[in-house]
Amino acid sequence: MFGKKPEPCIMVIFGASGDLTYRKLIPALYDLVADDLLPAEFAMIGFARKPKTNESFRQEMRSAVEEFSRRKPIDERIWERFARALHYQQGDYSNPDDYRVLCQRLEAIDRAHGSGGNRLYYLATPPEVYNTIIEHVGTILCPEREGSWARIIVEKPFGHDLASARALNEHLHRWFREDQIYRIDHYLGKETVQNILVFRFANGIFEPIWDRRYVDHVQITVAETIGIGNRGSYYEHAGVIRDIMQNHMLQLVALTAMEPPAEFTADAVRNEKVKVLKALRVDTSRGDGTVRGQYGPGVVNGQFVPGYTQEEGVAPDSTTETYLAMKLLIENWRWAGVPFYVRSGKRLPKRVTEIAIQFKMPPLLLFSQRTASEIQPNLLVLNIQPDEGISLRFGAKVPGSGENIQPVVMDFKYGASFKVPAPDAYERLLLDAMLGDGTLFTRSDEVEAAWALITPVIERWKAGEGSFIELYRAGTWGPKQADDFIAADGRAWRKL
Ligand code: BG6
Repeated sequence: MFGKKPEPCIMVIFGASGDLTYRKLIPALYDLVADDLLPAEFAMIGFARKPKTNESFRQEMRSAVEEFSRRKPIDERIWERFARALHYQQGDYSNPDDYRVLCQRLEAIDRAHGSGGNRLYYLATPPEVYNTIIEHVGTILCPEREGSWARIIVEKPFGHDLASARALNEHLHRWFREDQIYRIDHYLGKETVQNILVFRFANGIFEPIWDRRYVDHVQITVAETIGIGNRGSYYEHAGVIRDIMQNHMLQLVALTAMEPPAEFTADAVRNEKVKVLKALRVDTSRGDGTVRGQYGPGVVNGQFVPGYTQEEGVAPDSTTETYLAMKLLIENWRWAGVPFYVRSGKRLPKRVTEIAIQFKMPPLLLFSQRTASEIQPNLLVLNIQPDEGISLRFGAKVPGSGENIQPVVMDFKYGASFKVPAPDAYERLLLDAMLGDGTLFTRSDEVEAAWALITPVIERWKAGEGSFIELYRAGTWGPKQADDFIAADGRAWRKL
């Protein structure tokens, strides 16, 4: 996988005039070319409704690269080479004739670039048009021909509940085998997320204590300072439960909790993740196991920001949650009785994603009453972003007479240990899809297991059961009820 170049191919981006193409896909492709990770015969064609010529598309993509590539300034030699590989076709997603034209263009590009008939389709459109694109790609563009491959990348959201995710899987499976389908969860492309497995399974000392005998509980936080920007109409139907919990958060839970796979292959890794997702329960022993919040106006990073219901595209009486805390339990031998508290929100005081493993207290406190109260449990924190690293907290004796104990931290920082900046998640994911490696993509049963956990929560809310929406001031750590929720178990959220 590492250092290997993919075979020549043409990447077809549906939704090429959208934000994702501009901010993520094109800059990632440029950075891959700059790192010499793509074959010389690589080509890309964008397909979207807006009229553009190859030339005007290239001009726009140049601004995308200037703004969002990791490399600044743009390198003219690399840009020239990259720009020649970019093409555009205007089309209507529901018009079969436009796909026939696309088919001819693909063959012409194959002849000009030597891309060998291999195709990587990317659905970067709103999900409402996924079905029609999949069907036309399946029937007109011939998913796979003799001696060449075809793969399809599907962006999130993958369905909006269990039934719609199943229906989308069935629709895809009419034309594509599972090993041709790459469902994106960009968290899996992050270096620090991949490092969870390396940390756990390439080291001998952590795994033996990674279970219910030693771990008191796990806290996972995905906190954002941003609001919903101009995505109001999308977010109104999503909320943080569909936007973050069902995908990114459950992936973090699965990687933290899974058993070691028998081998590091796409299916072996995903088998273990699916087992965790199937063993997950929302703890409904107290209420419905959730706390929901919505941000009101407040101050974030010194700036006054409006409340959620004042945002563009949001109903003034919206009850969409922008904050959610849940208590999850994993019913298996490793984790029985160890709560996983997860929380995510927008307009919180700080952007931070971390996984904190809090260990149990020592079984016997040998130190005096006073110092014993200073002993804090060991804590291992995997900092996913932005301060990427890993830290371990333990108690140390304060120098001097007496038995004073103080918590100290052993700290590893990516930036300090590895001087090279990490590639963007999309670079890794696009490259893996071209290489045919599905390890960092979610499989059909995985996505369905995640929805099977989340859908009943949404249904309870819809039925008026379960937690209510609580307002929190933007720039604070969510509603007060979230503190009470965890305090009821004698625990507290980490202060970040
Ligand atoms: C996206 C969500 O999937 O992830 C966004 O739709 C969210 O709402 C984003 O802001 C967070 O990603 P990252 O990489 O910034 O943590």
